[in-house]
Amino acid sequence: MQNFSYYNPVRIVFGQNTIAELPKLVPAGAKIMMTYGGGSIFKNGVYEQAKQALQGYAVVEFGGIEANPHYETCMKAVELGRNEHVNFLLAVGGGSVADATKFIAGAIPWTKGDPWAFMMVHAPQLTEAIPMGCVITLPATGSEMNYSAVITRAATQEKFHFGDPMVYPQFSIIDPQVTFSLPQRQVINGIADTFVHVMEQYMTYDVNTPLQDHLAEGIIRTLLDESPKVLSKPDDYDVRANLFWCSTLGLNGLIGMGVVQDWATHMIGHELTALYGLDHGVTLAIIMPELWRYKIAGKKGKLIQLGKEVFGVDTPEATIRKTEEFFHSIGMKTKLADYGVQAEEAAAHVRDRFNARGTKLGEHGEHGDIDGNAAYAILRNC
Ligand code: NZQ
Ligand code: ZN
Repeated sequence: MQNFSYYNPVRIVFGQNTIAELPKLVPAGAKIMMTYGGGSIFKNGVYEQAKQALQGYAVVEFGGIEANPHYETCMKAVELGRNEHVNFLLAVGGGSVADATKFIAGAIPWTKGDPWAFMMVHAPQLTEAIPMGCVITLPATGSEMNYSAVITRAATQEKFHFGDPMVYPQFSIIDPQVTFSLPQRQVINGIADTFVHVMEQYMTYDVNTPLQDHLAEGIIRTLLDESPKVLSKPDDYDVRANLFWCSTLGLNGLIGMGVVQDWATHMIGHELTALYGLDHGVTLAIIMPELWRYKIAGKKGKLIQLGKEVFGVDTPEATIRKTEEFFHSIGMKTKLADYGVQAEEAAAHVRDRFNARGTKLGEHGEHGDIDGNAAYAILRNC
């Protein structure tokens, strides 16, 4: 097992009708900026519940944060937050709203120039951030319990991540009831995202971490069991609760401690979202199986392990096929052509971008060997 340091200060308040607990969580007297997305919270009653709970507070609102949140939009929120002297941020929405709010939290007090710099260094080592909390409405990203954010610069079609412990939410409220209103497309995206988060922290090579492996396999088993149920019985609260807890634990850091991680699927996926507007979960389901095939030699041991522990098969290719079958079974298509994108063109585009930037997915690829040419070789098969 590799050395690690684990710190996660996020209080999770989980369960039915928990949005009402906001006054116990937000500091008394706080001046809040409440951030939200394109309006789903008005349709499903989440806005009403939050406003009701926040009656005793001064609240400024900032809505209109788009999926795959834009830097340009975030900077408008930064300006509002500064002008209004807010001292607490409350993100109410999916991973995009949570991520945007993390960026805003770091950017409001930032005095060293353009905060896009966070995305250039990835770990900006912030010394200050506006404290934030979260009412998360979509099970997928784990953003409610981690310190990462992914922001898109619309002007240049760049999608990059940053992470900093200063932007850990102080708390996140997870009321699985709020997911009853999710469009099926987002439910499926969230399942794929969770699946791939777990795999980015598992499907590398063995460094003798049986507990982390069993935790990861447990999340995947639960996803395989619960996913068909959420499609056939979308009103089942327990199914929604189980899926949400899978996605939170999938990326709150715990299963990744001491293991070799990958993240190349995510990094290539962000390029596809930036260039073609594909949903995040979609890009992952397209790339991961072909990335596994490309790296089948290095990932052989773990592919066989996942096959045996979860799918009841015993060859690397059989595990990859079972994974594809799972995605198809929930209605997730796994080829670029299914979304009208030409694989050869996309592969060349990403290769050129990686080459121009000198990208070598080093810390994000277990052998540091995913460069432009490798991304090309993977994507042309997608
Ligand atoms: O904008 P509104 O109107 O709220 O609608 C959203 C949006 O259209 C809707 N939605 C959310 N909750 C809903 C709902 N509709 C009905 N009922 C609800 N309860 O769903 C749509 C998608 O929302 P979004 O927040 O974009 O989805 P998701 O949570 O999947 O977040 C995706 C973003 O997170 C980043 C992705 O790259 C992408 O930008 N990620 C963040 C990570 C992190 N912070 O650790 C890790 C992930 O790997 C991922 O990269
Ligand atoms: Zn993801």
